[in-house]
Amino acid sequence: MELKDIKGWQRTIHEYRFALRELETKVMILNTEWKLRDGYSPIEHVKVRLKEPESIINKMKRKNLQVTEENIVNHIQDIAGMRIVCAFVKDIYHIIDHMKLRSDLRIVQIKDYIAAPKPNGYQSVHLIVQVPLVLSDGTRWVYAEIQLRTMAMDFWASLEHILYYKFDKRVPPHVQQELTDAAKAAYELDEKMLQLRREIIQFAEEEEKSVV
Ligand code: GTP
Ligand code: MG
Repeated sequence: MELKDIKGWQRTIHEYRFALRELETKVMILNTEWKLRDGYSPIEHVKVRLKEPESIINKMKRKNLQVTEENIVNHIQDIAGMRIVCAFVKDIYHIIDHMKLRSDLRIVQIKDYIAAPKPNGYQSVHLIVQVPLVLSDGTRWVYAEIQLRTMAMDFWASLEHILYYKFDKRVPPHVQQELTDAAKAAYELDEKMLQLRREIIQFAEEEEKSVV
């Protein structure tokens, strides 16, 4: 079974592609607006991807679902995916607070793996959202997954992914433990940078006061 054999699949995949572009535009506007207004944007950089057909089929199998367009559209919520990488942990929550207020996004689910990291140490916040896509015959709310993480979390997750996939998920137990320890080191680096930021802000404020 291949996705291209499903009637109407070409149209459906385009809807995900368009929805992802809409989402990218929203985030790009925010980024520019924040930079112009505050001189700083909580968004460091953004990546987008569409889920590979093979991954969609594998996920359907894992979920024990028949591969039909209806099942895919209703049950696979991360076909359109965006990753927002931030400098600081607080930036992540700032972006989420903003997204909660938008009328052109529906937040369906929030998984906070920063508050509760996965057992291997993985940290990020995953949002499942719906993006309105206005088409000639009406508006469709298309699912997308937004992963938010800091640069340190992204560094760890990207390398962990490479290591696991390169070696087909077979790694010795002590390596697993060391990867979890490395995630902790990434967390500590985030804490350290946040603390340095606070000190720099405080220093600047005190200097300003002493000038007045
Ligand atoms: P899915 O069926 O894959 O969506 O499972 P889920 O919904 O239980 O998982 P979740 O949404 O928490 O995570 C899905 C995505 O998060 C993956 O596709 C990865 O991009 C990322 N992710 C989750 N856990 C890990 C991890 O341990 N390591 C890395 N590198 N990435 C992870
Ligand atoms: Mg998921």
